[in-house]
Order: sequence, then structure tokens, then C-alpha cells
Amino acid sequence: FIPPKAAGGGGGTTAKDELGNVVTASGWLASHKDGDRNLVQGLKGDPTYLTVEGPEAIGNYGINAICTHLGCVVPWNSGANKFMCPCHGSQYDSTGMVVRGPAPLSLALAHVSVENDNVFLSQWTETDFRNGEKPWWA
Ligand code: FES
Repeated sequence: FIPPKAAGGGGGTTAKDELGNVVTASGWLASHKDGDRNLVQGLKGDPTYLTVEGPEAIGNYGINAICTHLGCVVPWNSGANKFMCPCHGSQYDSTGMVVRGPAPLSLALAHVSVENDNVFLSQWTETDFRNGEKPWWA
């Protein structure tokens, strides 16, 4: 087994499932439907949501699931179309933008790319598209 590398050498880490297996785009799309948000192991092993956008596309950003309040892993609530933290009630919209405290900040973002069917995550250092500000996590 040869670990896949991101094309261009720009870095990035392969998304892994809960068993530590590399996530493939085809496998993910076969088992998740449009609008789903499900966790993979992402950068530094952080639990990170991949989003599915349409029948054939994994969203180009991942959402770090660690609550910006005190660090609980925030579940996705598809009925409410929000991430809702069970610890102290913070809420985030479907992009991970904070909409209710006590969380002070939105969930961190990561870039998602697909190369040769492998799903890669890499650091998001650009402007946070949700609020137009510099990313607090970079
Ligand atoms: Fe999420 Fe406190 S850790 S609301």
C-alpha cells in the first residue's frame, strides 16, 4: 500500500473514516445523500464534516466539528438544518457559522479536494466566506 499524495505537492491529508480507512469520493457518494454532513478524521485528526452537494459532488469545504465554546463535538441535526451542540446549546448553521451562543466563533473550515478518487483536506487560510473575516483558526 502506497499512501496517496495530493497532486502538486501542496500538502493536505487524506480524509479517513472512523476505522482509519482512506475515504474515497465514489464510496462516500454511494453511501451518503445530497445534503448529508458526516464526520471524517481530518487535519490533525480533528473530526470534520464532509458535505454532499448534489448526487455527484462532495462540497469543497469541510467543517471542523469541535465546538468553539468548550470543545464538544457538535452533531449535525438534519431536521433543524443546523449543527447543535449538546453541551451548552450553541448552534451553527449548515455552513458552520455560529448562530447561537455561548460559542463565540464559527466552526473552523478546511479545504476539501478530490484527487484520483481520494478525498483530501488542507488548511483553510483564506478569508472565511461566511463572514468575510480572517479565519480565527489559521
Ligand atoms: Fe458547545 Fe459549550 S461546548 S456549547
